[in-house]
Amino acid sequence: MSEQKRPEPKRLFMETYGCQMNVYDSERMRDVLAPLGYAITEKPDDADLVILNTCHIREKATEKVYSEIGRLRAHKERRASEGKGMTITIAGCVAQAEGEEIMRRAPEVDLVVGPQAYHKLPELIARAARKTGERLAADFTAQEKFDALPARAPDGVTAFLSIQEGCDKFCTFCVVPYTRGAEFSRPQASIIAEARVLADKGVREVTLLGQNVNAYHGGSTFAELLDALAQIEGIARIRYITSHPIEMTDDLIALHGSETKLMPYLHLPVQAGSDRILKAMNRKHDSAFYRDIITRLRAVRPDIALSSDFIVGFPGEKEREFEETMQLVRDVTFASAFSFKYSPRPGTPAAAMLGQVSEEEKSDRLARLQKLLFEQQTAFNLAQIDRVLPVLVTGKGRMPGQKHGRTPYLQSMHFDDDAAQNGDIVYVRVVGASQNSLSGARLALAPEAA
Ligand code: 5AD
Ligand code: SF4
Repeated sequence: MSEQKRPEPKRLFMETYGCQMNVYDSERMRDVLAPLGYAITEKPDDADLVILNTCHIREKATEKVYSEIGRLRAHKERRASEGKGMTITIAGCVAQAEGEEIMRRAPEVDLVVGPQAYHKLPELIARAARKTGERLAADFTAQEKFDALPARAPDGVTAFLSIQEGCDKFCTFCVVPYTRGAEFSRPQASIIAEARVLADKGVREVTLLGQNVNAYHGGSTFAELLDALAQIEGIARIRYITSHPIEMTDDLIALHGSETKLMPYLHLPVQAGSDRILKAMNRKHDSAFYRDIITRLRAVRPDIALSSDFIVGFPGEKEREFEETMQLVRDVTFASAFSFKYSPRPGTPAAAMLGQVSEEEKSDRLARLQKLLFEQQTAFNLAQIDRVLPVLVTGKGRMPGQKHGRTPYLQSMHFDDDAAQNGDIVYVRVVGASQNSLSGARLALAPEAA
């Protein structure tokens, strides 16, 4: 009797750059490819298929892609000499924005696929392997992508859930409206159905994702969608990223005061503190408008912690205008933040503006801003000491006898306890804090009873 040999599993190496949307998309690509026998490998050198899920938001992110392609070339050549193939696929926003350019500059790339075409990956990869000559697939709609991707296999108690893609805001520095296209909201019913599946599989915390998540309008307002999701029993915590200040509607702000499943932590990018710069950025709000939203959020939810994005050295930014950003940070105070040097992106209006700021000036401003933001982040964490926080248990801690979890404010928490299960929400007294995480000990009883 001849023994049947099982087919060798095919190996997939994936590298993800950029935002949470890309992290989510990478997971979905992995799900689409799993039925074809692709299993993840951590090393590119033994991969049959490589996918670089790329980011185009700043120049540095784009450069990384070309240097990574260069490194892959050597692996591909070595495998070819051993009679094995390696299909190199470039996905994500660089693929969308520079598809033709990639093909010209990097002949070792077999396939270039934009963010709306991931559901077509199996077919595209099969065609690329047969060398039918097509190397570029970018133009599908967000609707098709949402409809066609398979059911999720979450691997933990927290999950991202994409509800919206694209952006119509056209901030003058940003490539997203060009790479991710026009704003598209997924229908409410399909979001609720996916959230139910996640809850059934043990997910307790859902983070709704979208480039302009609070601009959602898929048959209801964003606040109504949050309200509907909060009715799902297994879901204990809800977050959302990334929001635009002008979409912080009255009902959404009110919900932060009334819906306890909505976590008291909000990422709300402001970008700059100067009204002249905000106008040049086409942000559609001024500094007073942003401060007013924060005041109203704090009125309904006094413990809400804030996070933001900042750009320093936007074209024409004067020292005194940068100082207005610093003052806004001092006035609002943030629990965490991302801050960047302005990076001119080809094709965006700001790239052609006069008064580009020198690299030295940008670096100097960024250093000053980050020093202030890091001080605020550390102070926020230190302020938690002696507080008792409800912590969602997500896994093992650093030390034996420890667990790891997440606080309502998205802090990472290592705490003493070995009884709690992943997905439990337990009460932990905070005993230590650093810039990036907290440590504590679990209370035997809930705080009311303790
Ligand atoms: N230069 C620097 N930072 C940028 N961002 C977007 N485009 C640029 C750019 N051209 C930042 C913004 C945005 C975050 C995702 O990236 O702060 O909120
Ligand atoms: Fe880019 Fe502005 Fe849209 Fe955010 S709101 S994705 S910064 S254009």
